[in-house]
Amino acid sequence: MKAKYIEKLDLPFLISGALCFENQAQFHPRKYLLKIAENISGNDSQIYEHTRAVDIEHDNLYTVITDTGFKVTASKVVLASHFPFYDGLGLYFAKLRPQRSYVISAIIKDELPNGTFVDSGKAGWYFRSQKYKDGQMIIIGGQEHKTAHGGDMIKHYVNLKSYAEKNFNVEKFLYRWSTQDYITIDGVPYVGNLTSTSENIYVATGYGEWGMTNGTAAATVLRDIIVKNESPYQEVYNPSRKILTYGIKNLVKENFDVAKQLIKGKLQVGQYNFDLKNDQGKIVEIDGERYGAYRDKHGELHIVDITCTHLGCELKWNSAEKSWDCPCHGSRFSFEGDIIEGPAVCRLNHYKESDNTIDSNII
Ligand code: FES
Repeated sequence: MKAKYIEKLDLPFLISGALCFENQAQFHPRKYLLKIAENISGNDSQIYEHTRAVDIEHDNLYTVITDTGFKVTASKVVLASHFPFYDGLGLYFAKLRPQRSYVISAIIKDELPNGTFVDSGKAGWYFRSQKYKDGQMIIIGGQEHKTAHGGDMIKHYVNLKSYAEKNFNVEKFLYRWSTQDYITIDGVPYVGNLTSTSENIYVATGYGEWGMTNGTAAATVLRDIIVKNESPYQEVYNPSRKILTYGIKNLVKENFDVAKQLIKGKLQVGQYNFDLKNDQGKIVEIDGERYGAYRDKHGELHIVDITCTHLGCELKWNSAEKSWDCPCHGSRFSFEGDIIEGPAVCRLNHYKESDNTIDSNII
């Protein structure tokens, strides 16, 4: 891809230099996906929404098991579920780093040039303009951190707002949201056979914040592998590729952190009282066991078992998203125990004070 070095940009602040990639395009991700979905339906292809795939059985064929009891049998299976819901001894939980990042949008008085702008500094800010009603808004993102390692999550939105106010003429903040991405050990997505010995079961994951483009590239690679038996890019994306030295350092660091979180989580003592305001959550201790407690906006108390159903790390409270997040491999659960992000495939036990009911994690 062609690039050029420039020293000036039509932005409301000075830059020292920039690498410019020309002839780029912006598109509307939802419209793009809706069009793809429209083309999938029919001709023996179906989309089943609200149906979580949780396991795979293998005989002559593969059978995908779902949480509703519904089963799909196929000769070839592609795991494209963000984090693969089935590991098949591929050890994906040990070679993917879960990462959260934050975005806000605002109306600003400055006129922004077309393009996406990425700060190469440590903070990793990025921004772009977006059509909004008759005018324009700015979308600003950044503040990445490993899932459940970001301290008080609200502060990341505060930091984004301060950055916006410092650099742009903000008229009004509009929206905020956060997202989760998976980063591979060497930064290149894993696309291809699930393991070096598996056949007819494929994976596409680890898009590293570039899901719309990497997802499309992954689809092309997998299409070629499945239909033509080869792709010119399959070695680059091969999930079983040899990882370079710097990648191995990352792998060791990540897995040392997981072991630390497991031990730390078990040793920590919860706070002993239920003194919770509405819309507040924290870890509490009941009969010597740690639980997660959240009092919702209406005063209802929700208690969940905070041992992650994946491999047993202790979950942490995410004050910005009102969720219980795992510091080991990034599973996330709602305050009612439902799964928001894998690799976990079992929900948390959930106790609701008002009706004295428990939702069990047994499928
Ligand atoms: S996601 Fe693996 S232990 Fe929680």
